[in-house]
Amino acid sequence: MTRKLAAGNWKMNGLMASLDELKTLVQSHGDVDTDVLICPPATLLTAARDIAGDKIAIGGQDCHAEAFGAHTGDISAEMIRDAGGTYVILGHSERREDHEETDENVRAKAKAALAAGLTVVICVGESLEEREAANTLDIIGGQLAGSIPDLVTGQTLVVAYEPIWAIGTGKTPTLDEIGEVHDFIRSRLERRFGAGVGRSTPILYGGSVKPGNAAEIFGVSNVDGALVGGASLKAEDFGPIIDALE
Ligand code: G3P
Repeated sequence: MTRKLAAGNWKMNGLMASLDELKTLVQSHGDVDTDVLICPPATLLTAARDIAGDKIAIGGQDCHAEAFGAHTGDISAEMIRDAGGTYVILGHSERREDHEETDENVRAKAKAALAAGLTVVICVGESLEEREAANTLDIIGGQLAGSIPDLVTGQTLVVAYEPIWAIGTGKTPTLDEIGEVHDFIRSRLERRFGAGVGRSTPILYGGSVKPGNAAEIFGVSNVDGALVGGASLKAEDFGPIIDALE
């Protein structure tokens, strides 16, 4: 069976005081059956790990493709692991856009993350122009093929479908549109990696997931959880999203 995962991406938000939200979440949702992941900014990784203990997983939002070296401002997968992280988000559309990351870059980072023992959350998603031109599945297929390295397992790979136009906008695709893309991702994973990895890899939906729409999105076929931005910053918002997945 595919495991369920509720993942929060804090993006460039969060100071030490924000960890009170994580404390609240550990108290309210530390013992749920669903896997819960919080990816805070790198500055908070260690402190977040101390608060989360073994109740909630902690992850990074990006890593360099090399383990160490002269790369000012970057952090490596080894460093995330050393800080207590067990996951890393890679290929988020904001990284692809702000830092011109290509599928090749994402794949190299993913290889480094897997070598460091992290589970990779690989993000894919189309722009509004690409959707309107009916290119969504081509774009997603290309990103999956280019960004995911060969050496993944169902335990070390998570795929997040995040339509770029739905991120932080309050807009979401229809449930049919989400289902079409998630079914497509599942079939591509099965085709490339076989039924074992293909069926056990969680496929998350991301893009304006809120307490009010989470349950209906989680009812869609092949949606195994969510990658949540804005609504992961407050325990009172993220908690009900986790509940909807239980
Ligand atoms: O990675 C999560 C994300 O991009 C979705 O953000 O704020 O629309 O939930 P948001």
